[in-house]
Amino acid sequence: MRDSRVGARRQCGSPGWQNSPMPRPIEALIHVDALAANLAVARRAAGGARVWAVVKADAYGHDIGHAYAGLKGADGFALLDVAEAVRIRALGWRGPILLLEGCFDPRDLDACARLHLWHTVHHAAQIDWLAAHKTERPHRVFLKLNSGMNRLGFSPQAFRAAWLRLDALVQVEQIILMTHLASAEARDLDSSDAAVALFERATAELPGERSVCNSAATLRFGTRLAASASDWVRPGIMVYGSSPDHPLHSAFDWGLVPAMTLKSELIAVQDVPQGASIGYGATFTAERDMRIGVVACGYADGYPRVAPGGIDRGTPVLVDGVRTRTVGRVSMDMISVDLGPVPDARVGSEAVLWGRAANGALLPIDEIAAAAGTVGYELMCARAQRVRLRSVGMEALDAMTRTLPAQVGSGPGPGAASADEPA
Ligand SMILES: Cc1ncc(COP(=O)(O)O)c(C=O)c1O
Repeated sequence: MRDSRVGARRQCGSPGWQNSPMPRPIEALIHVDALAANLAVARRAAGGARVWAVVKADAYGHDIGHAYAGLKGADGFALLDVAEAVRIRALGWRGPILLLEGCFDPRDLDACARLHLWHTVHHAAQIDWLAAHKTERPHRVFLKLNSGMNRLGFSPQAFRAAWLRLDALVQVEQIILMTHLASAEARDLDSSDAAVALFERATAELPGERSVCNSAATLRFGTRLAASASDWVRPGIMVYGSSPDHPLHSAFDWGLVPAMTLKSELIAVQDVPQGASIGYGATFTAERDMRIGVVACGYADGYPRVAPGGIDRGTPVLVDGVRTRTVGRVSMDMISVDLGPVPDARVGSEAVLWGRAANGALLPIDEIAAAAGTVGYELMCARAQRVRLRSVGMEALDAMTRTLPAQVGSGPGPGAASADEPA
């Protein structure tokens, strides 16, 4: 692969070259087998609850079109808005879809009816819109309690009245009770226990299914909640192979595998003498003679500019599957790396910024996020448009689907009979 690229570059003088220029070597691989395997981890942790795969923000930057093959074993897709729902329907999904923030405008209710979307109700105005809506078909709604995050949802005092209003509407067919935990990833689970207790008090004696858990809650207490508060779980970040409570637990601790690899190549190698500096601002000075590789990846590709570069404090990277570190500042299109641990590296060598190397070595996105002072969520979502995507792992996914227990992959996928089947 590497050699053929270099070979192709060498042929630039041939007549056909201008019609087929080689793309810049950076790309993001979407591992559909990893998505399916991580979804299976969520299902096992959910203790029998049904599983929404959360695919907002274009499947956390993985692109819904690429992620769909790996996630279609879910019982439903939870996402942000009608535009994302349209894309999932266009991919052939006929099962449940949930709008996590509900309708942004009364006109969204038409789309909900047409596309059979379940939607969250977190604010009185959304009940007014439903009451005024001339709907062809009754709606399924997730009524949201504010259990302490103070972002979306009815207060515990207002929750019952909101339920009674919804229950009285002919426009509403089913009310599912939900909340979203503010700190399920925290070391101390006391605040989550308090939020769940609040949810249980606010929903006591109200009929209907319940939904509480995101990834962190599903992994950490999904089974415990299954009996009382969990008919549906809503895992997002874990299905993409990032640990929701890193650094408390790593992705490996939870049995999660990276679903995205951001990979590129070395486009230059520099021999840098002791005392010379590297990159903008000369923030890194070589303490010894060094071989430095220049990777075709920068902040304009979505790599965090704030990721530190230094021998002791550098951000991890895999060159030809060998772990090394970034040196100096991240620039718009390039990053420099120490080739000390990889003496054979040369122009064209593989550089994995996160994910899986060709030799099987793994670099969890959480490590890069931690170095940059952020979370895996942000890095995934920040993948730039100019980084092209490629699905891999279809064969492994096919083999996995054949060997998985019946429950996994048995969600109402394309073609499955479902009460939500759009006309
Ligand atoms: C209401 C709701 N449920 C579930 C999720 C998924 O969370 P996570 O990605 O942490 O699993 C989100 C994401 O922010 C959310 O807003």
